[in-house]
Amino acid sequence: MESLTVWGGKPLQGTVHVRGAKNLVTKAMVAALLGETESLLKDVPAISDVEVVRGLLEVHGVVVTEPEPGELLLDPRNVKSANFVEIEVHAGSSRIPILFCGPLLHQLGEAFIPDLGGCRIGDRPIDFHLDALRKFGAVVDKQPNGIHLTAPNGLKGAHIELPYPSVGATEQVLLTAVRAEGVTELKNAAIEPEIMDLIAILQKMGAIITVEPNRVIFIEGVEKLGGYSHRAIFDRNEAASWASAALATEGDIFVKGAKQQELLTFLNIFRKVGGAFDVEEDGIRFYHPGGALKPIVVETDVHPGFMTDWQQPLVVALTKAEGVSVVHETVYENRFGFTDALNQMGADIVVHRDGLAGVTRRVPRRPLEQAAVVTGPSKLHGADVRVPDLRGGFSHLIAALTAEGESTITNVGIISRGYEHFGEKLQALGADFRVNA
Ligand code: EPZ
Repeated sequence: MESLTVWGGKPLQGTVHVRGAKNLVTKAMVAALLGETESLLKDVPAISDVEVVRGLLEVHGVVVTEPEPGELLLDPRNVKSANFVEIEVHAGSSRIPILFCGPLLHQLGEAFIPDLGGCRIGDRPIDFHLDALRKFGAVVDKQPNGIHLTAPNGLKGAHIELPYPSVGATEQVLLTAVRAEGVTELKNAAIEPEIMDLIAILQKMGAIITVEPNRVIFIEGVEKLGGYSHRAIFDRNEAASWASAALATEGDIFVKGAKQQELLTFLNIFRKVGGAFDVEEDGIRFYHPGGALKPIVVETDVHPGFMTDWQQPLVVALTKAEGVSVVHETVYENRFGFTDALNQMGADIVVHRDGLAGVTRRVPRRPLEQAAVVTGPSKLHGADVRVPDLRGGFSHLIAALTAEGESTITNVGIISRGYEHFGEKLQALGADFRVNA
């Protein structure tokens, strides 16, 4: 699916079913490498990021089958080294390969990780990951197109303090420490719900992991781990994206599978902007209750703050709010690229390279944080736009569905990296669009 033609201006109404979180499922698949027996993962979404990780597991000898639709059975009993070419083919546009380091070092004593892909939303270094691996005793050898790692004296528990509560680096430490010799202490860890779900999976495998109130995590290394059977946490980012779509198009969307606890901060902001929601047993109904949308000042942060992945879809709704909103992005250096297309459609968004100084902010002020000032209400009109990244891409879609008139959106394939069957879902919501060849 390369491009879509969208005729906007119609409220999105209906039900979408959100399944397992892209940012948990892919890591749970890597965790299966650490087990001596098979693992069963449920509620796996059909997204390309899952296919990338499946390919990488298979080239390393893991047998992956689908007992039921949405389930993966992962058999790691014949793990083997893979050659660079095989790995390179599967690395794709994902960042997940970096998380193979610990498991492959434990299983094979070495790992080759190709240079990473992933959304262009900042330079996305992996220094926290490599520093942590070295502390466990890994030897990291930078090569032209990736890194080669060995662990000549095995992997030993370490004292690690992250400069920033990085989700990926926290997962790197967890996936390495669980079978390292001795205890690992991880300070300034990320504690996103997807991290806690990964910890639950590792505990099912036999790991001993303690999360302290001050975001310090202790992991007591164990000799060996078994497999797991686990139903993945729902995708909070996808749920928040459809909620923003309901608000922006003045629609009414029931997001089946969404849960309130993991969306508390999002729900507060959604309500403050003027959205309404009803929490049901099996999902959440998000709708525009009528009346004007209100402007808001919101700052992205680590959990339990407002997630950086939620701001892109919300900004589209903010273009319709009556007044000036400010969205302060503090996690990535360049996550407002999508606003160019919104301005092309008639929005009034100014992006400031320097963020807002928050003296009480918990995380160190990052030199390149950004603030987007959104002045509304704007009436969006159709335009021809190109998708820059995953979450920004979904915002282009929402904007085109909100705009009066016809839009053509190219490079939409990126959206299927993180949104399962989004074409069918748009159809179910009554969207007016055509898939171009
Ligand atoms: C994960 O990325 C998610 N991706 C991101 O979602 C999400 O936005 C992010 O966490 C924050 O919640 C996956 O889980 C696959 P980080 P990750 O390490 O782990 C800097 C989406 O759309 N940093 O918490 O890469 C980094 O540059 C994606 O689903 C270093 O400086 O995020 C960033 O500024 C987008 N050095 C900040 O920390 C490092 O070694 C947070 O990154 C690692 C990170």
